Amino acid sequence: MPLSEKHDETKTYDDILNAGPPVDQLARDFVTPTELFFVRNHSQIPHLQLDSYRLRVQGLVSRELSLSLDEIKTNFEQRTLVATLQCAGNRRKELVSYKPIDEGLAWDIEAIGTAEWTGLRLGDILTSAGISDETAGHVAFLGLDTLMRDGHREAFGSSIPLDKALGSEVLLAYAMNGEDLPLAHGCPLRVIVPGYIGARSVKWLSEIRVQEDPSDNHFQQVGYKLFPPHINMYNVDYHDGMQLTKLPVNSVIVRPQDRSLLPAGKIMVEGYAMSDGEHEITWVSVSPDGGESWQRAEFLNEPQLWTWQLWRAEFDLPPGTHEFIVRAWDSAANSQPETIASVWNFKGYVNNAWHRVKITLK
Ligand code: MTE
Repeated sequence: MPLSEKHDETKTYDDILNAGPPVDQLARDFVTPTELFFVRNHSQIPHLQLDSYRLRVQGLVSRELSLSLDEIKTNFEQRTLVATLQCAGNRRKELVSYKPIDEGLAWDIEAIGTAEWTGLRLGDILTSAGISDETAGHVAFLGLDTLMRDGHREAFGSSIPLDKALGSEVLLAYAMNGEDLPLAHGCPLRVIVPGYIGARSVKWLSEIRVQEDPSDNHFQQVGYKLFPPHINMYNVDYHDGMQLTKLPVNSVIVRPQDRSLLPAGKIMVEGYAMSDGEHEITWVSVSPDGGESWQRAEFLNEPQLWTWQLWRAEFDLPPGTHEFIVRAWDSAANSQPETIASVWNFKGYVNNAWHRVKITLK
């Protein structure tokens, strides 16, 4: 696997597969080759018996369903969507270097990828089961992977609001980039919730439950909650946190890498930008001089919903040290905060501060 593994430094024993592409391989293609697509797991990959696999649909439905993989593939219309998946912890490394963070993986800029997902609409399965009650407000998911917490074994889970679940973009995917979904990415079936943090796209999906409230799963109620910068692990009340859903506008310089030493002259700066997926990225500005002047970047793909926007900007620069900065806007005029200080949070989520890279030209 060309991915390099990442380990959670706070765990003494960590045999959980987490990995990302070498940063210089990131965002070279609009659709990320599967072997370069980051992997984020919270426990060991489950042992699966595909023959006996069933997806259960339960809760506030008129008709409970229990479907085999064959039934899932043949009874529902097949849909394909290109969508970007980004972990809420992407760019945590910059937050950690501003102020320590006690948990999570120190992702640089590589916890993001774009794939062509094939499967069925979650909405089609919900329609088939029938929403039975007007109190239904959320759709909860459970994976087949489990971990021990407070003496109990529990599955990874999440939920999304019912309105989002019925959106045509939300898929249950059984294929990625034209091949069966690989085991590391959730084979045989995973949720794809475009525009939301990656944690809501549950892999190795075993159960869908329609319910009144958000999921009570640890990863919905404690993990993946956002707190303002003044909250820390000593004064936190987890009931107060904001459950993360949509990703904020972000943009990142992928090449040249921070601290590169390069020949003076023409320098091509390249990267990606991403919004909440519902709004296209409309503008990316790059500064070659720490924010004194700015140049509009050129887009490398047609702006589209649910995916990243690749961009580049060329500069002609003399020898010396130069600081590049990138910032982006979306079609709703959302943009990025300037400083890491204003987005720092003790769990290290959704860092979308202006991205900075310093290089030396000789
Ligand atoms: N689903 C299960 N069952 N278990 C997990 O640990 N990790 C989530 C999500 N779905 C996870 C999961 C997180 S945090 C992210 S960012 C994405 O899967 C990553 O998907 P990928 O590994 O296919 O890139």
